[in-house]
Amino acid sequence: MSAPPRIASLSSPQVLELSSFTEARGRLCVAEATQDVPFDIERVYWISDVPGASWRGGHAHRTVSEALIAVAGEFSVRCELDGEITDFRMQDPGRALLLPPTAWRVLSDFSPGAICLVLASAPYDKDEYILERDELSRFVRDS
Ligand code: TYD
Repeated sequence: MSAPPRIASLSSPQVLELSSFTEARGRLCVAEATQDVPFDIERVYWISDVPGASWRGGHAHRTVSEALIAVAGEFSVRCELDGEITDFRMQDPGRALLLPPTAWRVLSDFSPGAICLVLASAPYDKDEYILERDELSRFVRDS
């Protein structure tokens, strides 16, 4: 399988290849704003200790782009954008899943010890979330 492109537009969910340096001492991966992820990173958070039967997300963002990285373990992401559903299994710390604004996402099937690192394009703002599918449809239609 060919490697995904490192630089991508912000318009569709896609896996980005990060800078990765593997040597006998181990592996180091880099996500640098604008080079490895196509936005300025203004916030970083991470999700851990998710029970195997639990899920996270279940919302979209009006304006925020995010990049999700499985820095430990693995998890699944179901993404829906413009009516198209795409499933991803994140398991490589050298890859990031780019989720553009208005992408509805659900994270699930976390392996024990999995950690999802999230790079976000803006500070936290709870009013920027879209929590209902109807609200998302209206927002997309009217914007
Ligand atoms: P939430 O976005 O609902 O988590 P998930 O999408 O993984 O299900 O956030 C969970 C809690 O964390 C909620 O009380 C808001 C808080 N939170 C912050 O304070 N800052 C942040 O940057 C994020 C992402 C969440």
